[in-house]
Amino acid sequence: MKRTLKTLTAAGVVAAITGAGVVYFGVINVGADEPHSDPVYALLSTARDRSIEVRSRDIKVPDLSEEALIRAGAGNYNSMCIGCHLAPGIAGTELSNSLYPAPPNLSKLGVDGNPAAAFWIIKHGIKSTGMPAWGKSMADPYIWGMVAFLQQLPSLDAEQYKALATSSGGHQHGGGESKMHNHEGQHEGQKGVVAGHHDASAAEEIAEAGDHHGERNSAHAHEAAAAPSQDESTEHAHPQVVEASHDAPETPATQPKTHTHADGKEHTHAK
Ligand code: HEC
Repeated sequence: MKRTLKTLTAAGVVAAITGAGVVYFGVINVGADEPHSDPVYALLSTARDRSIEVRSRDIKVPDLSEEALIRAGAGNYNSMCIGCHLAPGIAGTELSNSLYPAPPNLSKLGVDGNPAAAFWIIKHGIKSTGMPAWGKSMADPYIWGMVAFLQQLPSLDAEQYKALATSSGGHQHGGGESKMHNHEGQHEGQKGVVAGHHDASAAEEIAEAGDHHGERNSAHAHEAAAAPSQDESTEHAHPQVVEASHDAPETPATQPKTHTHADGKEHTHAK
């Protein structure tokens, strides 16, 4: 008995030293351009699946067939997700092609048969994958909107997708909206491709306006549209965003307001 214990302790010490050596000598390649080995991949994906399954099994799925919910989800998805998860008529982007693990093409996959799991993933994100925790800025009903929309997405063609995203009024989710669609510095060579797009995203512009002040006031950020800032026109390069937003509803600015960004630029928007 004593001998077995000694052997076990020695084996434990050797394993710990080996593990520390593997870490210390940089044996593990964290580069995103080299895939995991099969055993590591199997371990990580099983851990991921089990983690999500356990955490999402008690989530109650609301009625996801309501048209208004689906429509709102379409606008948010179009604003925040297509760069990674694509859409009908949008093939791979720089982002979707370069991330590892690769973001699944949700225009084909939808919610993958499990709306509760999709809700959990969108709300909490997935560590070390690039999938953000949208619950940090979005209230639950807006997340359900995207789940409802994702359920329909695989059955939509490019035209239907565009029509739905256009009719949604764009980006809205209960505060905390950010400049997600500002790909500044990411698409240097491609700005010409999207010339003119900026004017279209009035609704998004306003949605993000609330965030500049650090406010989480959805009324401020969502109700109105228009008065898109003129000064940022060179920044808004997002070739993967569907032209749908060109037709985004624009309401005349009632109380224009000017303020200065952290980067020193002036920005005017509707109150
Ligand atoms: C920066 C890239 C990025 C953005 C933006 C992004 N995701 Fe993801 N998402 C990922 C990656 C990467 C994965 C896969 C993670 C993995 O393999 O475990 C993922 C996984 C998912 C999954 C699980 C798919 C499945 O069944 O395996 C859902 C659902 C999802 N994302 C929804 C969204 C929604 C909705 C948005 C927008 C609000 C969004 N994502 C924005 C990168 C992104």
